[in-house]
Amino acid sequence: MTTSSDTDTGTTAAPAPATAAGPSAPLAPEGSGLPVLGSILDFRRDILLAMHRGWRDHGDLVRYRLGPVVVHGVSSPELAAEVLTDSASYGKLGPDNPLRLILGEGLLTSDDHESWMRNRRMMQPIYTKQAIARMYESMSASTAAQVAHMARSHRSGDVVDIHGEMMRVTLDIVSRCMFSTDVEQTRDGISPEAVDVAINYAFDRLQNPFSPPTHWPTPRNRRFRRVMEGIDSMTYGIIAERRAAAAAGTVRGDGTPDLLDMLLDVRDADTGLGMSDREVRDEVITTFGAGHETTAITLTWAFYLLSRHREVLRRVQEEVDAVLGDAMPTMADLAAMPYALQVFEEALRLYPSAPIVPRLALRDTELGGYTVPAGSRLLVDLFNIHRHERHWDDPERFDPDRFSADGKRGRHRFAHMPFGAGPHLCIGKHFALMEAHLLLAALVRRYEFRHVPAHRVVNQASITLRPRYGMEMTVHTRSRATGTG
Ligand code: HEM
Repeated sequence: MTTSSDTDTGTTAAPAPATAAGPSAPLAPEGSGLPVLGSILDFRRDILLAMHRGWRDHGDLVRYRLGPVVVHGVSSPELAAEVLTDSASYGKLGPDNPLRLILGEGLLTSDDHESWMRNRRMMQPIYTKQAIARMYESMSASTAAQVAHMARSHRSGDVVDIHGEMMRVTLDIVSRCMFSTDVEQTRDGISPEAVDVAINYAFDRLQNPFSPPTHWPTPRNRRFRRVMEGIDSMTYGIIAERRAAAAAGTVRGDGTPDLLDMLLDVRDADTGLGMSDREVRDEVITTFGAGHETTAITLTWAFYLLSRHREVLRRVQEEVDAVLGDAMPTMADLAAMPYALQVFEEALRLYPSAPIVPRLALRDTELGGYTVPAGSRLLVDLFNIHRHERHWDDPERFDPDRFSADGKRGRHRFAHMPFGAGPHLCIGKHFALMEAHLLLAALVRRYEFRHVPAHRVVNQASITLRPRYGMEMTVHTRSRATGTG
């Protein structure tokens, strides 16, 4: 396997040992590493490649040492199901989770089960399929603006970094849905550059327990602090404006609530209390952090895969042309374009944009016949699980038909879980699927993107699975009369 280009060459993992663990079950087999450092250097170089090799060599549960920290790679749907559904044994990472430096204690990073559950219950109604449908107009406005921007900025045949374009439009979507403003108006706080600095900083600390303390005045620490001050001052400023407007009874715009209005409005069913400014800030930043890059990256991989699999591209084009003609997709149109969504789901299988779901062993447990000691970490590896040969035929093959009604029948529930699983299942799943479906259909209708052969495609697994050097593609305007332009 290589994570440093297209993933057309696959490997088979040894299945996990089937023996039941006794009271003195052994520790899981150890991945290769150096004295003292353990696997730190391999993980820093390419965490997914290191864990893929460990899986191939040792099986579905592998123990790694990262200096003083012990982590376990979990690479089968069966073991993932045990880990992700047993919150009493496997909790979220604790206060030392570097993501907290950005997201605070929002849903994604809270390790206090009680307060997480309270907030999750309050916020769940905001993210149901029906509630998300109310945001379709905002998503559609962003999509139309993106198509107009591309028409203005690029001529047919120009080379474009599709990853940059997708980051731009998904950030715009989350800005409009959260604050009813487009991305230009949040530039001084939450910009693509700020998000980049923050995520890289946190991921580096996640992988390297020897990072300098955050309060040391290193250039990197200072840059990170500056970025976070910009993000916080913008967010708290908007929260204060909204609270003041609500107190004065001022109705904003046409009165349609955005995500921020809804977060400010939620109430605990038992106490009647809402969220503090700090809690609202943490959920706002979590939504930005968790909710735009993940979708942008998967769309980027989807367009890359389509450019390499022209027969699949033709099928999506035919579907989209037949349903849309020359119009932008309405919400009803999406249901009539199932194949476009299957393309996105298959891209999520091969390139899960949040490839590793971390947990902390809260007590000594037994997993797959091995002892997992309390305090060690577990990294549920979606990249490996989505390629598990017990569950996928020819796993490296790009085949959106795996997600047709027939294709899905009988599949293990945890064999495809790009949105995680169990109680922490991604709250934004319907949001992501609706925006991705809309963007994919609207862009396929208008453009054909062709990967520039000389451009190197290299996976970079940080907290997300990005293309390290972006994704250079030529843009070709399509006209319905002639097919591709
Ligand atoms: C393709 C897009 C997306 C992918 C692949 C993705 C993936 C994930 C995964 C794997 C988890 C589970 C984390 C865990 O168990 O520790 C998660 C949780 C979460 N996601 Fe997403 N996500 C996506 C889009 C979104 C969007 C659009 C939003 C918000 C609008 C969002 C907000 C969240 C939040 C708040 C959580 C924490 C849920 C909880 O623990 O209660 N995500 N996501």
